[in-house]
Amino acid sequence: MKTIKVDLGERSYPIYIGDSILSNKELFSQHITGKQILIVTNEKVAPLYLKNIEQNFVGSNYELCILPDGESHKTLDSFDRIITHLMEKKFNRTCTLIALGGGVIGDLTGFAASCYQRGVKFVQIPTTLLAQVDSSVGGKTAVNHPLGKNMIGAFYQPHVVFSDISVLDTLDDREFSAGLAEVIKYGLIRDEEFFCWLEKNIKSLIERNSQALEFAIERSCINKAEVVRMDEKETNYRAILNLGHTFGHAIETSLSYKKWLHGEAVGCGMLIASELSKKMGFLDQDQFNRIQSLLECVGLPKKIHKDVDYNQMFENMKVDKKSRDGILHLVLLKNIGEAFLTSDYSDEILKTTIKEFLC
Ligand code: NAD
Ligand code: GLY
Repeated sequence: MKTIKVDLGERSYPIYIGDSILSNKELFSQHITGKQILIVTNEKVAPLYLKNIEQNFVGSNYELCILPDGESHKTLDSFDRIITHLMEKKFNRTCTLIALGGGVIGDLTGFAASCYQRGVKFVQIPTTLLAQVDSSVGGKTAVNHPLGKNMIGAFYQPHVVFSDISVLDTLDDREFSAGLAEVIKYGLIRDEEFFCWLEKNIKSLIERNSQALEFAIERSCINKAEVVRMDEKETNYRAILNLGHTFGHAIETSLSYKKWLHGEAVGCGMLIASELSKKMGFLDQDQFNRIQSLLECVGLPKKIHKDVDYNQMFENMKVDKKSRDGILHLVLLKNIGEAFLTSDYSDEILKTTIKEFLC
């Protein structure tokens, strides 16, 4: 088992990565000491992994909140269901919320934990690759609004992250590829060596070789933990974690959070950001080709979903959280392994680039 520390002073916490973590009762009791526990999960994950988790709480007063599955349920309605459950069961400030699921459950549960009685403990048990390499780490919690992705939320760090790699066996290929998009992101934004490793080892990763997987998850979490340590509340540097997200989020909102997984939208968004970086003279053709071929190899979409309307997508981009005083800032690439945030781009080139990616 590997342990990575997210170093944030009194809000520091460990990320445990390995096999059989879900059945490690000792590890659970070491970190979860409260008597009132609410496990939040969804209808797809519950039949797969709830039993494993429940075994760690035999004899404790734990409750279950099982939500419908999917990004379209990352809403204030689901948030309300969690809060109502806590109130009905008279949970108090010493309770612990456990998020068992992908990024949707993690973001929702974290947001509920940040609000309930002004903040209670929460634990992340990420069950998708995307959640293990990204959403469970760093304390961004949120729900979506029909007009914008993750628009209602809070920065609120978990108490501990338990990443059990064996749960990834039940992910279908599409969900697995969506997770690889965020893995590739770390290579692109700040870790060229990791990008080169990914180019060489992408086949093993796609085949879910456990050694390759553990290395990729660990390396991703190390990168994320470093960025979060440097700029927890995203005053500037943390924005690089959003490479491709301005486009991706706008696509997801245009599709009403249906049809595409978050990682698919991000994968396509990173390709658009790379093309824009090339057009602006930062990346050369060879670098762009390497990025494109890695994303293609993983099976991520090369074009924007056919149901996305260009004008709608452009409108949606304007509510991006990286906008400052009404000016949209974009994350671009200077090189493979070097991302930066800028408002210094031409609107014309931006529009032409997006149009090239329409179906
Ligand atoms: P998701 O939570 O919807 O999970 C994808 C699908 O996999 C769902 O159907 C889910 O039920 C299913 N699933 C989960 N674990 C499974 C397992 N082990 N076996 C089989 N099926 C399983 O989506 P996601 O890709 O995990 O996360 C996307 C969400 O994360 C988005 O809402 C995005 O905004 C958010 N996100 C947040 C951050 C952050 O920093 N907080 C970072 C990246 C993404
Ligand atoms: N996934 C973006 C962030 O954590 O900042």
